[in-house]
Amino acid sequence: MKIVILGSGAMGCLIAAFLSKSKEELWLLTKSEEAAAKINSSGICVEGVSGSWQVKIKSTANIKDIEKCDLIIICVKSFNTKQAVEQIKPLLGEDTKILTLQNGMGNIEIISEIAGEQNVIAGVTNQGATLIATGKIRHAGRGETIIGTVGGKTPVEMRAIREIFNKVGLETKMSRDIKSLIWSKLIINVGINALTAITRLPNGKLTEFEGTRRILRDAVTEATRIAKRKRIKLIFDDPLAKVEAVCEATGDNQSSMLQDILRKKRTEIDFINGVIVRLGQELGINVPTNKFLLDLIKTIEASYKSSV
Ligand code: PAF
Repeated sequence: MKIVILGSGAMGCLIAAFLSKSKEELWLLTKSEEAAAKINSSGICVEGVSGSWQVKIKSTANIKDIEKCDLIIICVKSFNTKQAVEQIKPLLGEDTKILTLQNGMGNIEIISEIAGEQNVIAGVTNQGATLIATGKIRHAGRGETIIGTVGGKTPVEMRAIREIFNKVGLETKMSRDIKSLIWSKLIINVGINALTAITRLPNGKLTEFEGTRRILRDAVTEATRIAKRKRIKLIFDDPLAKVEAVCEATGDNQSSMLQDILRKKRTEIDFINGVIVRLGQELGINVPTNKFLLDLIKTIEASYKSSV
């Protein structure tokens, strides 16, 4: 299988490093030529829960180097999905599948519009990774990856992806209810990401302080109420207990949103707490804690330019 990973952030590099242990042909497609050059010369360096290791990998910023492929794994930020998928159109053959492992809600719809819903495989991953520098990451926590299709079918390509991922050490399962998976992951991100970004605490600390515990609980309760109204069946019975368990399992990890804020980058807030605020308005459900988190993150983003 010829696989292209789109995005050389923390998750893109982590997936690329693990997949380089397989026999498949692998490319890492980066935004900048500098990033591709750095990765081509130094490879990807991983440290953390899987040990300290380094792999060689083919990287490019120019899609003309790659040509048609069998699988594209999207690891860019949600607000870049549309532009990224438009850009990779020349790589799409008749049977090319696109796997999204991104955070947040709305990516499946954006990718489907461009590449056709039948070609989209969606997934959620509880792997934790932090970008230290270009091509250098910390593997902050292991967790399973679950993949599925919108219609609930399990195409051969999806089974092949599961096999390849499991072989290289990325524990992966399949599910027939991807909507419920995406919502379940959304609830986790709603509870953790903005709150860690605002307080600058690692995930594990959120449950240690009364204030953050209470805000986390309120954000999760509001999001769960929306999911219930939309008749979404979550994959866990007790959402709050699950979010707290993820905080502990990824205790030392800086959430992806905290990493963005520290680098003064745009965050995925619109695709996480922003989704809950929008749906709250549509459904007439009050979601003040999510609105508060959304407003604070938007304020931090807007203040990048004015800060010295
Ligand atoms: O966005 C993230 O950082 C991750 O999805 C999670 C699960 C919150 C762990 O840090």
